Amino acid sequence: MTGPYQGYVYAYPHKTAYRPLTPEPTLEQVWEGEDKNALFLYLHVPFCEMRCGFCNLFTRTGAPEELTSAYLDALERQAARVRDALGEATFSTAAFGGGTPTYFTAPELERLCDIADGFADLAAVPLGVETSPATATTDRLTVLAERGTTRISIGVQSFIDAEARAAVRPQKRAEVEAALDRIRAVGFPTLNIDLIYGIDGQTPVTWLHSLDAALAWRPEEIYLYPLYVRPLTGLGKLGRDWDDQRLSLYRLGRDHLLAQGYEQVSMRMFRLPGTGTGTEYCCQTDGMVGLGCGARSYTGDLHYSFEYAVGASQVRAIIDDYVQAREFGTARVGFRLDESERRRRHLIQSLLQNEGLDRAAYKARFGSDAAADFASDLSAFADRGWLNETASALRLTPEGLAHSDAIGPALFSPDVQNLMNAYEAR
Ligand SMILES: C[S@@+](CC[C@H](N)C(=O)[O-])C[C@H]1O[C@@H](n2cnc3c(N)ncnc32)[C@H](O)[C@@H]1O
Ligand code: SF4
Repeated sequence: MTGPYQGYVYAYPHKTAYRPLTPEPTLEQVWEGEDKNALFLYLHVPFCEMRCGFCNLFTRTGAPEELTSAYLDALERQAARVRDALGEATFSTAAFGGGTPTYFTAPELERLCDIADGFADLAAVPLGVETSPATATTDRLTVLAERGTTRISIGVQSFIDAEARAAVRPQKRAEVEAALDRIRAVGFPTLNIDLIYGIDGQTPVTWLHSLDAALAWRPEEIYLYPLYVRPLTGLGKLGRDWDDQRLSLYRLGRDHLLAQGYEQVSMRMFRLPGTGTGTEYCCQTDGMVGLGCGARSYTGDLHYSFEYAVGASQVRAIIDDYVQAREFGTARVGFRLDESERRRRHLIQSLLQNEGLDRAAYKARFGSDAAADFASDLSAFADRGWLNETASALRLTPEGLAHSDAIGPALFSPDVQNLMNAYEAR
């Protein structure tokens, strides 16, 4: 472990560990025998009005209307094929992510909701949608609210114009405030605001200023992201004491939100108590159906997706292929999880949450004790003061949670790590 910011582990294994599946299994084969209750429905919208310097998500800018409508046509074709393959299935939660789903116009968002409605009754399940300040217009927000959106998440990053510019996120605070005003006026049960720390020129004072500007809206959730700049994206330079800057801004942000009555859910996520979405989806065990290119799908032993890229020309080529595709009946690239990878995934997904790993739940699922299965990894964390082990739980200490982005990657299996390294070295 060389520093606190090795990587954001929002899913295990990471998409860079996926490889072409040969032969490609049909979706019927992939989903046969799976528990299809309480699935997560995810629709990916790979379009944005700008390409932020820090972002390595699967997205492109400047899509003309022909492309967005061709993308929706392709989504419809894919949705029909996936529904056929799934058969009877129930969904406990849904999300539109990206990119920026609200890059779509209001009528396009209606179409997107219709596609999702073919799987899950959007009026009955929690639905989260990501948006950006320029695209969070009243007409789009109104469609989303009417179609059952329960959580709207907006990327703000910083309330200081110079910092937004430094992060190559050209936006004005006035636009951000106007967007937040529109979101509150249309009305959603949960508003989430994303902020980033570790931007060039950001100081404890300016960070607190952004936090307070966000808190003025009393958002039900706030995500604090440490800035990452990876190869292939616009920003390139690492400051010498960038790690220290990020760690101290993290502590400041965390303590400030806790003092304001927020509870910490994970290193990045904070929420007002009592405002959870009430979803029954359990990320350790339940499956996911992803639609759109860039979207992943999970069964118990296979994670799969379309081809993945970050570089602008490859992203465009993959989207162009997707909109022309007629055949959506197989899983193209993916990773098969054996029993030991499933245990590892359960450990990682649980440990990186503030509530930690429930030892009885792990035992009920795998028939063994997590502390025994991962004794040497866990003792390294305990030696650093990052882990508390009790009879019922394995739980990160506050310092452990601060080092989530070192702990997650340290738990990758050698196989997954090798695949990721080989991808990065291409
Ligand atoms: C899909 S975007 C949110 C919605 C919308 N596209 C926007 O940017 O306003 C996801 C969030 O991930 C965070 N993010 C993405 N790449 C990041 C990076 N390299 N470092 C830190 N945070 C990052 C940003 O806070 C961003 O708001
Ligand atoms: S941060 Fe949001 S708006 Fe910026 S490029 Fe990434 S997905 Fe698009």
